Amino acid sequence: MKHNMITEPATTATTATRKVAKPAVYFLILLLSYYLGYLSALIKNPSYDHPTTTKVNPPPQAVDVDHYQFQTQCAEPIPPELVRQTILTRIFNGSSPYNGFPQPHIEPFLRQKRIKGWGSTGLVFKNLIQKVKPKTIIEIGTFLGASAIHMAELTSQLGLQTQILCLDDFRGWPGLPGQFRDIKMINGDTMLLYQFMQNVVHVNATESIIFLPFSTGSTLERLCEWGVLADLIEVDAGHDFHSAWSDINRAYKLLRPGGVIFGHDYFTVADNRGVRRAVNMFARVNGLRVKADGQHWVLDSF
Ligand SMILES: C[S@@+](CC[C@H](N)C(=O)[O-])C[C@H]1O[C@@H](n2cnc3c(N)ncnc32)[C@H](O)[C@@H]1O
Repeated sequence: MKHNMITEPATTATTATRKVAKPAVYFLILLLSYYLGYLSALIKNPSYDHPTTTKVNPPPQAVDVDHYQFQTQCAEPIPPELVRQTILTRIFNGSSPYNGFPQPHIEPFLRQKRIKGWGSTGLVFKNLIQKVKPKTIIEIGTFLGASAIHMAELTSQLGLQTQILCLDDFRGWPGLPGQFRDIKMINGDTMLLYQFMQNVVHVNATESIIFLPFSTGSTLERLCEWGVLADLIEVDAGHDFHSAWSDINRAYKLLRPGGVIFGHDYFTVADNRGVRRAVNMFARVNGLRVKADGQHWVLDSF
């Protein structure tokens, strides 16, 4: 009895302690795992701020409106015969940029001909030029001129007097100098434009190919303001969704009735960057049907 009398309160105390200790241990484990999780997130992602940070999306309506707003009306179209002179006047103070090319200080850096393209001689070019017989072609994304020169050769073979406008800032992309070591860079300036010009001079196509060495967005807007429209437009500049989406929207309104717009990388590894999504979305919004020709996508005008 005595024994019991002494031990009973102790047992009760132990049981009580256990009852209190168990949730406390669980709580501590929970706290510890939360802390460890937080620490590991910090290690994986130093910019990790707080797990409860929420992303506030604007209402869907606002997103839709912003993405679909492009100027729809261009100036009255100028006749195709005036296109070249209009570009020379508006961009090159009235004279040909090929005059006196290459300047003596540039010549040592150029190769006689250095062409590289991607799908630049695909059958789609021949198919569309034969079908449309274009007087004006706009190429959005030219690089060294592989596709532009191919189109110049095709139009000349068909006896067409076609003017090809090449839109490119001739900067390529970040990392280009490492990939194309033979295209020289002087004080951070890549010789891409001059090598493109040299290629055009080499194939004697300076009368049919003229270039607009600026960003595609601003140039397409200017062409629209100047009424410079085209029968055939090739889109092959920025390949991310937003670049392709805005180039296609801006270019489409430059099409003459019966014209065709087309572009590369509908069926290549590059398409997952967004070209195909942009083309499909544009076709869906405008009720058009996308046709495929090799690696290229093709859309007819309304
Ligand atoms: C794939 S290459 C064009 C290749 C050419 N069509 C061919 O087949 O030979 C893409 C070109 O687009 C140009 N480009 C990309 N984004 C541009 C932008 N926003 N404005 C002007 N040029 C751009 C780059 O400088 C590059 O020369």
